[in-house]
Amino acid sequence: MAFIGAGFMNSFHAKSWTAVRDSEIVAVCSTSLQHARTLAELCGDRNVGTPKCYTDVSATVQDPDVDAVWISVPNDLHFPITQVICEEKMQGNSNLRAIACEKPLALNVPQAKEMVRLVEKAGLLHGYLENQVYAPSLVRGKEIIWSHVGDAERPYLAKASEEHSGPHEPWFWQKHRSGGGALIDMMCHTLEATRYLLTAPNENKSDVTVKSVSAETANLKWTRPGYVERLRESTHGQVDYSKAAAEDFARASIAYEDKQGTDLIAENTVSWCFDGPGVRLFFELLGPEYHMQVNSLEPELHVFFGRNLKPTPGEYLVEKQAAEQGLMPTIADETFTYGYQSENSHMVSCFLGNRMPAENWYDGLFIQRLMAACYMAAEKGTKLQYPPASLED
Ligand SMILES: NC(=O)c1ccc[n+]([C@@H]2O[C@H](COP(=O)([O-])OP(=O)(O)OC[C@H]3O[C@@H](n4cnc5c(N)ncnc54)[C@H](O)[C@@H]3O)[C@@H](O)[C@H]2O)c1
Repeated sequence: MAFIGAGFMNSFHAKSWTAVRDSEIVAVCSTSLQHARTLAELCGDRNVGTPKCYTDVSATVQDPDVDAVWISVPNDLHFPITQVICEEKMQGNSNLRAIACEKPLALNVPQAKEMVRLVEKAGLLHGYLENQVYAPSLVRGKEIIWSHVGDAERPYLAKASEEHSGPHEPWFWQKHRSGGGALIDMMCHTLEATRYLLTAPNENKSDVTVKSVSAETANLKWTRPGYVERLRESTHGQVDYSKAAAEDFARASIAYEDKQGTDLIAENTVSWCFDGPGVRLFFELLGPEYHMQVNSLEPELHVFFGRNLKPTPGEYLVEKQAAEQGLMPTIADETFTYGYQSENSHMVSCFLGNRMPAENWYDGLFIQRLMAACYMAAEKGTKLQYPPASLED
């Protein structure tokens, strides 16, 4: 397989590959050759491949050794890169069988629909890289809960939140490049995770339907003058939140119903305003007489560094690590805990078996529509029956 993009996310995927069987990383493509080389080196160090480095997407998918691509580039490039890849495939220039793309699928609904049309036309298998539904704690928690409750006693409420102190690259903060703020960056995760928890293992996803959406977005932290300045400095002037800010906080409530008309609720909160030790992922599933919960900042491992030590800043304890001193939660293997290992194993085994993965671009499109409805509900300040008029545009 080939990585398209050689930044933060594909380095996570590369690290996860030690747990993926029957597949080798043969190419890395990035407009920055230096990024491509660094990622290729990481692949070599982890013994998951000795990839060739490319700076051109067409050349990458024309490489006869490339059967599948993992797209992890800024959100505004998911669509144009898909266009290039599908064109190469349709012209008969590529052996590609499958395409996997990071969340969110696109910037907006029309783009996401066009991406689905293109992969169908090109005859490619497609995977939507939504890792949270592969996180072992969620998978096991769902398995335990649902194996002990009958359909009549199904869970009625799922809650999920994802919070940290702000993204690592300027493009995430620029809504023309990312499609929005914290909502599009992270609610894509919580919306799919809550739908996953609320859907019975023996149910089709389509058996649980959306009735209504209510949502709110806000600018809580990064439009305050001191933080506008800090953001300007840390992005070397690329981001100015006094002029063009995307939301740094959002919450949404999705009302679902099952085939019997049972009411189910998914509560979502996302934030770039959480100043804790690192990213906090929180999930809850509640039903009559039971509940389960996951909190990624309550791991089994903590380390302590006292005041006389001077540890180097970095992200070696937990993603979006924000401190180097005191008692700090530490995740032993984030590629396992966040679900990347299981996600990529599942994708590869489906692609090799000529099957569509459980999370595919139809799910990416579903989530894109739901996020658009959340933005619309927040903008109108009202609860929307789903699907609202003009959602497709
Ligand atoms: N699943 C998750 O939890 C998660 C976490 C972070 C990011 N993501 C998603 O992954 C994607 C990438 O995010 P990231 O954090 O890795 O971003 P990043 O900015 O760290 O890396 C982007 C990479 O893409 C390369 N690139 C830019 N334009 C390119 C082009 N035209 N062709 C090839 N390469 C190009 C850049 O050189 C860079 O190496 C985004 O869609 C983001 O939403 C998902």
